[in-house]
Amino acid sequence: MSAEKLAIDGGPRAVPELGPFPTKIGAEELLEILDMWEFSPESRAKIRQLIEREANLKGPHLFKYYNPKPSKVAAAEKAMLDLVGTKYCLAVNSCTSALVASYRALGVGAGDEVIVPAYTFFATSATVASSNAIPVIVEVDETLCLDPEAIDRAITKRTKAIVPVHMRGAPAQMDAIMDIANKKGIPVVEDVAQAAGGSFGGKPLGSIGTMGCFSFDYYKIIVSGEGGFITTDDEWLYTRAQSWHDCAACWRPDRFAKERREGELFCGENYRMSELEGAVALAQIRRSDEVLAGYRRAKMQIKNAIETFPCLSFRRLTDEAGDTGISLVMFLPDADATRAAIKYLQAEGVPAGGIYDSKIRDWHIFSYWEHILHKKTVASDGLPWSAVPADELPKYSRDMCPRTLDLLSRAIMVDVGYHYSGRDCAAIASGINKVLRTMLK
Ligand SMILES: Cc1ncc(COP(=O)(O)O)c(C=O)c1O
Repeated sequence: MSAEKLAIDGGPRAVPELGPFPTKIGAEELLEILDMWEFSPESRAKIRQLIEREANLKGPHLFKYYNPKPSKVAAAEKAMLDLVGTKYCLAVNSCTSALVASYRALGVGAGDEVIVPAYTFFATSATVASSNAIPVIVEVDETLCLDPEAIDRAITKRTKAIVPVHMRGAPAQMDAIMDIANKKGIPVVEDVAQAAGGSFGGKPLGSIGTMGCFSFDYYKIIVSGEGGFITTDDEWLYTRAQSWHDCAACWRPDRFAKERREGELFCGENYRMSELEGAVALAQIRRSDEVLAGYRRAKMQIKNAIETFPCLSFRRLTDEAGDTGISLVMFLPDADATRAAIKYLQAEGVPAGGIYDSKIRDWHIFSYWEHILHKKTVASDGLPWSAVPADELPKYSRDMCPRTLDLLSRAIMVDVGYHYSGRDCAAIASGINKVLRTMLK
């Protein structure tokens, strides 16, 4: 035995103090981030100099939980609470993740059915199947959102959720949908991916159903590159979504506490939002009023300047004041005329496009969801399809929702930009009038 005295017995510590922890994310990482902005070479050199001169630069802690600094993700969640008005909000890394976490929080799983619209981005229905449940695809109407009557007809004893999608920025018929859902006691998950900042009957979208799912991917209204949020007033659903998004509660505030009640602990995944996305999301949420005002102003100016044509109708808006204004959709009487009009409009420089053309694949239309139509499965267990007797599965086919296909094939969609000037809007409207006058005379 050596004569040295152990520290535990009052001897000197072998490791008196470790050196300070270096900044993990420092100047080089910051410069790499700034490289994404198009600074002039002179500004770039000045910025580099300035950053390199900073002697004790402390970088960010890029993790929401146990962050010694105020978390940007938490601040973005708080900003979303102010925007949407629910009691709880959880940041995730995409709307796809938000949908899965919401379905899982609601207990959706093998043998359950979830009603989704035939016109939505594939993620809305793919996430039902990846949660091991059966997507029940139903028609949209002239609102281009779920038709409440079609929902009513599609409800079975297996229906575990209804997912209205506020497509292309305009609200679904939330009053009728909530009536049906409440009568049958079925939760509603609003897919607000394309309509952040919209409302219905004065209520923000994402606060009307049981849960709301937002996308902040780069192509949405307010963005963080990738990202999403879940909103809800239900503490239990928030807790369960939080658990699912975070590998079953590893990071929840009281993470070693026992289950408060059956269903609080289970194996989840990792959908956490990074602090970098949180910072961008926070700045974007703060700008949302200004962005939305721009979309609405531009859309109203274009729409009001379109002349009356007997053959032209507009998408039915369930609540014009709640429309985000990101797109203007018009219908012509038949698909051939619509295709021709789109060609003429594009030649005029009008930012118009069609929605459905049977020759062009588009992930927003059910007839291209082969994964579902052909009941594809990821593993030999055959899920989600194997959980339901084959003769009780929905009958999927490429033409199972003819009304949706008819509407979409006659739709002209004009993309609205929040940055359009008054002159841009006037020019777009005059291009539309010119083409329609020529075609419909
Ligand atoms: C209606 C709808 N739902 C869900 C998603 C998925 O969003 P994310 O890209 O954030 O996963 C999208 C994205 O395009 C969408 O448009």
